[in-house]
Amino acid sequence: MIFSWEKIIEEILDKKGKVFLLGESDSGKTTFAKTLVLKAIKDDILVGWVDADIGQSTIGPPTCIGLSLFSPESPEFKISELYFVGNTSPHGRFVPLIMGTKKLVDLACKESDLVVIDTTGAITGAFGQSLKYQKILAFKPDFLLAFQREKELEKIIDSIKNFDFLKIYLMEIPENIRIRTRGERAKNRQEKFKLYFKNSKSYRLSQKNISFYPSFNFLPSKNPDNLIAGLKDSSGEFLALSIFIKQFDDEIEILTPLKNIEKIATIEFGDIRVNQNGEQLEYIPSNY
Ligand SMILES: Nc1ncnc2c1ncn2[C@@H]1O[C@H](COP(=O)(O)OP(=O)(O)OP(=O)(O)O)[C@@H](O)[C@H]1O
Ligand SMILES: [Mg+2]
Repeated sequence: MIFSWEKIIEEILDKKGKVFLLGESDSGKTTFAKTLVLKAIKDDILVGWVDADIGQSTIGPPTCIGLSLFSPESPEFKISELYFVGNTSPHGRFVPLIMGTKKLVDLACKESDLVVIDTTGAITGAFGQSLKYQKILAFKPDFLLAFQREKELEKIIDSIKNFDFLKIYLMEIPENIRIRTRGERAKNRQEKFKLYFKNSKSYRLSQKNISFYPSFNFLPSKNPDNLIAGLKDSSGEFLALSIFIKQFDDEIEILTPLKNIEKIATIEFGDIRVNQNGEQLEYIPSNY
């Protein structure tokens, strides 16, 4: 049975809980998430939106999972929390992607009655099945909305269909949906990075007080210039995103919108290089 968006939104607003959106790229997941979240805000429901799409991000910059919390007192869109994954695709990044999504879903559950989880369009083969299966087990959604065109989600659905904590709904895909080109997707990522780094400054920091993960000699390419990097404080919490500019003898230079840079304890390198304009310079395929 194929469910119309209106019907399912009505049911979700009534029952609440966790909603997981599953579907390939351009299947309508984000548009559905927006529609559902806006309706929930209108109904004064405490709602959390977890954006685990680290490529075509809605909340925050690419390479990060974002959380936006809404309440009647604070109904406007804002970034409530970010978690650094380090790549615009899940390749080589399953662990931080699943850990981070779980963390933000748990956080959202504490603050909200309804939690909407948007995901990447990575659904193909053993790779897609494994990613979605592990995610679904990690945060046990109540509703699994499958945006399926033909049969592309069959194998994923097969692997989770016996879990009794979730209800699976096959969703209508809007007829006139727009398929975005690779160029449009790249431009969208650039704009998101550009916006994030708009009010950034570059800082030179002493290397001796900072840890690096992975260590410089474990980086897939020996040169760390322009790698996107997450900044963490001493409790391991994400502070902000940065662009690693250069390593000097005793110092490093980074570009970041973070103001209190004295909190930086660890710098976590990602797998893509971007310039200060947000343009992606290189994508480094993961070797693990
Ligand atoms: N009902 C509709 N009519 C026309 N265009 C639509 C409709 N729903 C969505 N779109 C457009 O289709 C495109 C893809 O939709 P959307 O971004 O929701 O897909 P997605 O599944 O989130 O894709 P991705 O996995 O790439 O993030 C968007 O540009 C969106 O604005
Ligand atoms: Mg999307």
